[in-house]
Amino acid sequence: MDTNPKNPPIDRIDGRQKVTGAAKYFAEFDLPNMAYCVIVGSEIARGTMARIDTKKAAGAPGVLGVFTHENMPPIPGWDAPVGGQADGPPPKPKTEETYRILSSPKILFDGQPIAMVVADTFERATYAASLIKAIYTRQPSKTDLRKYLANGVMPGGAQGADYSRGKPDAYQSAPVQLEANYTIPIEVHNPMELHGILAHWTGEKQLMIYAKTQGVNATQQAMAQAFKIDPKNIQVHTEFMGGGFGMGLRTWPQETAVVAIARKIGRPVKLMVHRSQMFTLVGHRPYTVQTIQMGADTNGKLVGLAHAATAETASYEDFTEATVNMTKFMYACPNVSTRYRIVRLDRGVPIWMRGPGEATGAFALESAMDEMAHKLGLDPIEFRLRNYTETDPEHNRPYSSKHLKEAYQKGAEAIGWSNRKSQPGSSREGDWLIGYGMSTGTFNAFRWQANARALLKADGSLTVQSAVTDIGPGTGTALTMIAHNVLGVPIDRIKVEYGDTSLPNAPTQGGSAIVSAVGSAVFDVCTAIKKELIELAVQSAGPLAGQKPEALTLADGLLSVETDPSKKVAVAELMRSHNRMVIDKSGESKGGPNLQNYSMYSFSVHFVQVRVNPLTGVVRVSKAVSVADSGRIVSPKTAASQMIGGVTGGIGMALTEEAVIDHRFGRFVNNNLADYHVAVHADVPAIETIFIDKPDPYINPMGAKGMGEIALIGFAGAVANAVFNATGQRVRDLPITPDKLL
Ligand code: MOS
Repeated sequence: MDTNPKNPPIDRIDGRQKVTGAAKYFAEFDLPNMAYCVIVGSEIARGTMARIDTKKAAGAPGVLGVFTHENMPPIPGWDAPVGGQADGPPPKPKTEETYRILSSPKILFDGQPIAMVVADTFERATYAASLIKAIYTRQPSKTDLRKYLANGVMPGGAQGADYSRGKPDAYQSAPVQLEANYTIPIEVHNPMELHGILAHWTGEKQLMIYAKTQGVNATQQAMAQAFKIDPKNIQVHTEFMGGGFGMGLRTWPQETAVVAIARKIGRPVKLMVHRSQMFTLVGHRPYTVQTIQMGADTNGKLVGLAHAATAETASYEDFTEATVNMTKFMYACPNVSTRYRIVRLDRGVPIWMRGPGEATGAFALESAMDEMAHKLGLDPIEFRLRNYTETDPEHNRPYSSKHLKEAYQKGAEAIGWSNRKSQPGSSREGDWLIGYGMSTGTFNAFRWQANARALLKADGSLTVQSAVTDIGPGTGTALTMIAHNVLGVPIDRIKVEYGDTSLPNAPTQGGSAIVSAVGSAVFDVCTAIKKELIELAVQSAGPLAGQKPEALTLADGLLSVETDPSKKVAVAELMRSHNRMVIDKSGESKGGPNLQNYSMYSFSVHFVQVRVNPLTGVVRVSKAVSVADSGRIVSPKTAASQMIGGVTGGIGMALTEEAVIDHRFGRFVNNNLADYHVAVHADVPAIETIFIDKPDPYINPMGAKGMGEIALIGFAGAVANAVFNATGQRVRDLPITPDKLL
């Protein structure tokens, strides 16, 4: 781990709670009189249920209710019978179908809930669910994107518009040209913790929810809309989450259904889905086919670049993501065009997953950059440097900060790039071919609006509050560091309370935005406390009376004159002498005009060494170095852990992760963690993380840009490029399984 002596790493504040089992995840909450819900999923991918037999299930021991389209309690906010999002309004009437959970016998995707069974124990609910029998009229289902690429439609919204600058076809006139297709299979988030919800109506219009959501405020709003009640009367709690990776970025229809069922039966109801249902009910990374067309001159300057992507979505909802965006601003190229289409298939709707569309797009663009470098006889880093841009060519404005050149250099040094042989297949150790590869990653550095509250007590302790959920990256730890850096309160006297709607509103944790958004709010409220302390000290009798506020510093519980530390007062003393037992500040924080005046992106560079066995086709990532240019690093230890986590996801994406559908039936064949392989310890070498750690001057007061997504974005391309370097074989279809190398 790279460390900055001025910002020493601290342990995760919730580490002890997590490893001792004291941290409580949604499914661990038990309420008196609680009932358990189990979902029965459709066995076909498209058609109609002619009949569903629930009699046996309803009569099974302990069963409290069996809900199907025939008796599902209404969800009042969902009454508009138009197409659109499956979790309710706002309607997007352009979709072909409408999906409302348990509202019709129509089947739109495999695994679609056809019944929800509630019993007094989980085991009894599971047994009763097994007794449900459905008779279907099956229709042919469309699930194979490759067969329906011609059905692509231009989606609405920000991702819909085609983009071009200069002459879109300029690559065709370049002396060196490349055209290649890249595919990404369906990948499934598969966090360790299963999805679900515990819903408890505490009054006629009063609701308590323990959920697996990346945004408690978002779930609160969704339920307020669905049940037409005041959001103030809905409390949502998600303090801990056993991994999200994007699957908790929305409220899923079955969550709302559980809330409706809990009201109907008058008991708290808990749902925790089965692992196989993680493949069908909570989204996935969409299968995406991409084409890159690239032209360069013989000096290695890009002449033209075109990037087209077609991705799958559901028949009932248009999901889009920023797959082609990186191509617009990453390199200095005068002629660029991008195109993004979606194909509506008989599948559950996708959702953002781990570095989302940007990771999909970066695999194509950065593989193509490597292919072109090889054609030109250039080192892949040199080729990127020849097309480096210091300003954003898409928006014609400066980047708020960009230290990518330094990242290339540091990463190259750390991996030992000079050992790379430019001739593919020319490095061997015993039975193994050795290869080196690299790739760039980038993601928007967001700053969203957020609220926070801080309370400094005269006993010297500080409490920081925000509704934000910590899905694992160490949000609470980062917020602790920010408060500590502003107020000088010792780390062990700071308590961060988060993950509950009773706390100040915060955005959903996602998009690598939380340190920037919530961190800024914490910075602001702590700064307001500091200001008040200083005013107290200079405006009243005492050792600091009459001092200039800007001459004072605050550290280790002491306010003092920077140039004359003998003039000082203890904060606790100061507060007590003014009879202030607590200083309590709350507020909202959001970015100013800088957000429009600068293009804000985080950047990463991934370097890998792979070993490929030419007899078996097995690829091992034997070394990985990832460098992040994500502004100032607020919490070095959790940031390094997050980077390691992202790279681990990247190894899975590159080598093993693929949800396979049997297209005859439109159903998954590997919907479990044995057959869908996420990277585990044995797949992952020691990962070196390097942070440029230079503050971004414009994004927020900490100078911190997001770093979650860039830990993964680009990584799969680096592996594919290394495999090419090792073997001379270019794999353009992920994952790079042994069969593709034999
Ligand atoms: Mo992330 S894919 O924004 O949870």
